[in-house]
Amino acid sequence: MSKQILCLPGDGIGPEIMAEALKVLDAAKQRFGLDIEVSHGLVGGAAIDHDGVPLSDETLALARNSDAILFGAVGGPKWDDQPMANRPEKGLLKLRSELDLFANLRPAILFPQLAEASSLKPELVAGLDILIVRELTGGIYFGEPRGVRTLENGEREGYNTYVYRESEVRRIAKVAFEAAQKRGGRLCSVDKSNVLEVTGLWREVVIEESAGYNDVELSHMYVDNAAMQLVRAPKQFDVMVTGNMFGDILSDCAAMLTGSIGMLPSASLNEKNQGMYEPVHGSAPDIAGENKANPLAQILSLAMLLRYSLGEGTTADAIEKAVSDVLDKGYRTGDIVSEGCQLMGTVEMGDAVVDCLLNA
Ligand code: IPM
Ligand code: MG
Repeated sequence: MSKQILCLPGDGIGPEIMAEALKVLDAAKQRFGLDIEVSHGLVGGAAIDHDGVPLSDETLALARNSDAILFGAVGGPKWDDQPMANRPEKGLLKLRSELDLFANLRPAILFPQLAEASSLKPELVAGLDILIVRELTGGIYFGEPRGVRTLENGEREGYNTYVYRESEVRRIAKVAFEAAQKRGGRLCSVDKSNVLEVTGLWREVVIEESAGYNDVELSHMYVDNAAMQLVRAPKQFDVMVTGNMFGDILSDCAAMLTGSIGMLPSASLNEKNQGMYEPVHGSAPDIAGENKANPLAQILSLAMLLRYSLGEGTTADAIEKAVSDVLDKGYRTGDIVSEGCQLMGTVEMGDAVVDCLLNA
């Protein structure tokens, strides 16, 4: 039976970079004879414009029935005045929570060809290879109660709830320990247990889980220190595991160490390895429609999708190799360009990856 991928390009540069990823998928199907069917849906602002909501029930049903989802990016100034409950981002958050995609894997890997593009000194980032495991369906993002209320004196007060159940911590800790076993064998759990009870429990549960992973060296770090260490000496980290909000922040920071957030894919998986795959970067409305966006994070997200949800590791390797070959040739989009390299648009970059994939 053919595998089903649902494509949700979203807003801003989403549709442009998705088009390039789909070209690469077609080329991969041709080269490796894959049996994959692609369907398409709207999400985020595009869905608000069309359906009035950022994720329709029909699209959610399509997502549930797919083996994997390839997601672009959502949001933009056009929808900034939407009420919180109907913002484009809610489409993404609903997919994560409805499909129980609790394990968010965000690798920050430096392509050696791009060492000069990092804002840190090349020797600090050369060979950088960190995996951030972010809990994605709990914590303060989803905690109840939440809202804005008016106090007796007429002053408004905003509030959210930072909550984690033991079982939620346990399952993300397992994912992180197992990832560390397959990599450098080191796991750093990030919390704020000196201030927040919820992360004190987080730390306790991670320590309890560590008993099953004697081959993994576990350490703990407060989130403020972790942010500092990421820019001071990032290569000290192998795998980091943390909650939803800290993971959001630290993964942007880690991404930037690699020179361009435009290079980084991510995977969000549930217990069944059904997954949603998206670039770490956002919808970049300022450059949308100008053929300037870097499609490589979307293309690398496709590679992760093939590896993790479709079991097509060989094809994933070939796509990642094609991306690396393109960089070897000196082709760069604006976000990663440096002296002596050839500046390319979104479409040309996609074509170059296809060319390397087919003529490897
Ligand atoms: C991310 C994004 C999202 C998040 C937004 C778009 C809701 O920043 O995937 O990191 O905060 O999780
Ligand atoms: Mg983010």
